[in-house]
Amino acid sequence: MVRVPGDKSISHRALILGALSVGETRISGLLEGEDVINTAKAMRSLGATIERTGDYAWSVCGVGVAGFAQPRTPLDFGNSGTGCRLVMGAVAGCPVTAVFDGDASLRSRPMRRVLDPLELMGARIGPTGEGGRLPLTLVGARDPLPILYRTPVASAQIKSAVLLAGLAAPGNTTVIESEASRDHTELMLRHFGADIVSTPEGSHGRKIVLRGQPELHGAEVVVPADPSSAAFPIVAALIVPGSDLVLSDVMANPLRTGLFTTLREMGASIEQSEDRRDAGEAMARLRVRASRLRGVEVPAERAPSMIDEYLVLAVAAAFAEGTTIMRGLQELRVKESDRLEATAAMLRVNGVKAEISGDDLIVEGKGHVPGEGLVATHMDHRIAMSALVMGLGADKPVRVDDTAFIATSFPDFIPMMRSLGAELT
Ligand code: S3P
Repeated sequence: MVRVPGDKSISHRALILGALSVGETRISGLLEGEDVINTAKAMRSLGATIERTGDYAWSVCGVGVAGFAQPRTPLDFGNSGTGCRLVMGAVAGCPVTAVFDGDASLRSRPMRRVLDPLELMGARIGPTGEGGRLPLTLVGARDPLPILYRTPVASAQIKSAVLLAGLAAPGNTTVIESEASRDHTELMLRHFGADIVSTPEGSHGRKIVLRGQPELHGAEVVVPADPSSAAFPIVAALIVPGSDLVLSDVMANPLRTGLFTTLREMGASIEQSEDRRDAGEAMARLRVRASRLRGVEVPAERAPSMIDEYLVLAVAAAFAEGTTIMRGLQELRVKESDRLEATAAMLRVNGVKAEISGDDLIVEGKGHVPGEGLVATHMDHRIAMSALVMGLGADKPVRVDDTAFIATSFPDFIPMMRSLGAELT
């Protein structure tokens, strides 16, 4: 049985909400990957007291809503879009000026999607990189305004940035999304004492209303295992004959489990048991056995619930019999790398037929993968891990050009896979 590291989305949010609360927040199971550590450093620069109290156990003493102090140095988010965009929202509601920066991958990613609503709320944007990209200066609003905002794309990061800024505004901040994205910010805000209501909107959407200026109080947060990290050993177990793997405490929030639904449709044996719930988040034990997979069509509306999992799904699709069509993948182009192009390239260089048609990815599964390709990781942790998983089942080994970025989300990936019998050299 294995437990993959703590969920990245929850880990960022626990640190940020802890920093915006009064009193102590105790976090267990925090993901100690580079992305999350950068968020912890940013919270310290903004005035919170943060200590590591044990393995994966952290304590945060916050400054209260709108209580951030003026940071003395730029906030560096490394590779993490989530850390950067959520903290932009939190800073936008405080009367401080902060410089946001990150690595070359993060500097190439769009930030206007978050800056636009934050400007409507009263934040001002100072100098920026080209096209509003990092590095940039954000001047938080002294008197932030509550807004009603319709997110232009299904993005939990945009939604969360608006809600975090809305904490400091008087009255109700409302976010409407036409496709529901992960709701960890809403669940955790409620856990910390905010008044926040989420109702269905249209056929797949949500309307979220947050009452501003709550007193957030420190809370206990148990971080479930990250389903986006569990995805790698799960697909490895499915494609390596004879595998039988149990994973504990995997987050089972339905807005994150689109991959499991899809893999089951492909014929994967994934049994779920022992459901429980902590701080509003469901978690489960999963038993995965090697399975014969078949190609399926994945509908566009499922994308938000598995947005980080398409790379490894494409690996599963390559080992399946038949064609897999994944629809509506436009958001993959603006992740840590252009994942749509990178996924197709990863497959092709290993002898798998893959085609991009508009925003869709079509993979021809032949039941096996020739391998022997060298995969370019483009500073993207999930490309590296997906390619290595592909190598475990391929006819010949698969190589990756760089494994360094795996440390952003899954520092123990290589030792953990080795402990399960993988040969990684
Ligand atoms: C995340 C939201 C997603 C996801 C990212 C984590 C979050 O991004 O890709 O890895 O924690 O809110 P978008 O909201 O931009 O789709």
